[in-house]
Amino acid sequence: MEEERLISSTMTADDEAEITLRPKMIDEYVGQQAIKDNLMVYISAAKKRNDSLDHVLLSGPPGLGKTTLAHIIANEMGAQIVVSSGPVIEKAADLASIISNLPQGSVLFIDEIHRLNKSVEEILYPAMEDYKLDLVLGKGPTARTLRLALPKFTLIGATTRAGLLSSPLRDRFGVMLKLEMYSPDELKLITKRSARLLGCEISEEAAGEIASRSRGTPRIANRILKRVRDFADYEGKERIDLDVAKVALSRLGIDGIGLDKLDLDVLCVIIDKFKGGPVGLDTIASAVGEEATTIEDVVEPYLIKLGFIQKTMRGRTATEAAYRHLNREFK
Ligand SMILES: Nc1ncnc2c1ncn2[C@@H]1O[C@H](COP(=O)(O)OP(=O)(O)OP(=O)(O)O)[C@@H](O)[C@H]1O
Ligand SMILES: [Mg+2]
Repeated sequence: MEEERLISSTMTADDEAEITLRPKMIDEYVGQQAIKDNLMVYISAAKKRNDSLDHVLLSGPPGLGKTTLAHIIANEMGAQIVVSSGPVIEKAADLASIISNLPQGSVLFIDEIHRLNKSVEEILYPAMEDYKLDLVLGKGPTARTLRLALPKFTLIGATTRAGLLSSPLRDRFGVMLKLEMYSPDELKLITKRSARLLGCEISEEAAGEIASRSRGTPRIANRILKRVRDFADYEGKERIDLDVAKVALSRLGIDGIGLDKLDLDVLCVIIDKFKGGPVGLDTIASAVGEEATTIEDVVEPYLIKLGFIQKTMRGRTATEAAYRHLNREFK
């Protein structure tokens, strides 16, 4: 299951403790250079004008640093941050009460913003565009709307699926940033930084090994690092070296390029059961016993990035590279 999957990129209880590993300012945030460069321009311009930053939409697969970046933006702006999330805000009145209480110039962070329901979303449109809140007083024929002025604020939305956002909502974001998977060099820097913060020593090679098996995702690199540290502690090693990293990674069931059992199961289903595809997402999901959204959000992005699978109109197909990785003959 997802909860037990070490290389799952979604947040687990274990990661709560990792909040200490979260960079707080932009210069500690590794990688995503183009995004950081642009953000710094917008942030300094807004500060110069003594204005709030335009609304920002952050998108990308789980564990790439959207929540981290939202907090960094608030810190760099010197703004207070109020945090909520799509599924938590059930009613329009919930959101109305959150935004009418926002301090001037603050940041409202809404995680999983694609999961806001329609009636809640409609409150956001005038709030984002004109800093106005439309309240409906009373019911039926005597109902009246009252327009309240709101203090200026910056909405930061995060989503793993920008494509699921309705277009009126998407259009109201002035800044849209798509986070990309990290290179092994960037992940190595992140691993070394995290080791330092956790107070453990690690060799260059070991950090490189963890980085190259973290499927482009900082959260996974941090999680693997912690498990590898357990193995090193268990073996009484003062320092994490390449040997202990390799042993730990193989015991964790993570292969040489970062794939685990679920990834391999998905590839085997496409290749062995469906002759390389095309096969639909739901069929794959039920064959491996996982939710379709997990396969789509967590498993597929990295397999696509590796060039192992392709999405076509008729379903997923496996590429020759995937056949080779599984030692299958490509026909
Ligand atoms: N650029 C980065 N530099 C250093 N560490 C990072 C970076 N991005 C993410 N991390 C680390 O990875 C962890 C996960 O990041 P974060 O929680 O921001 O991901 P997310 O994109 O919000 O994921 P989700 O979609 O699951 O909410 C953070 O705790 C942080 O320690
Ligand atoms: Mg997050």
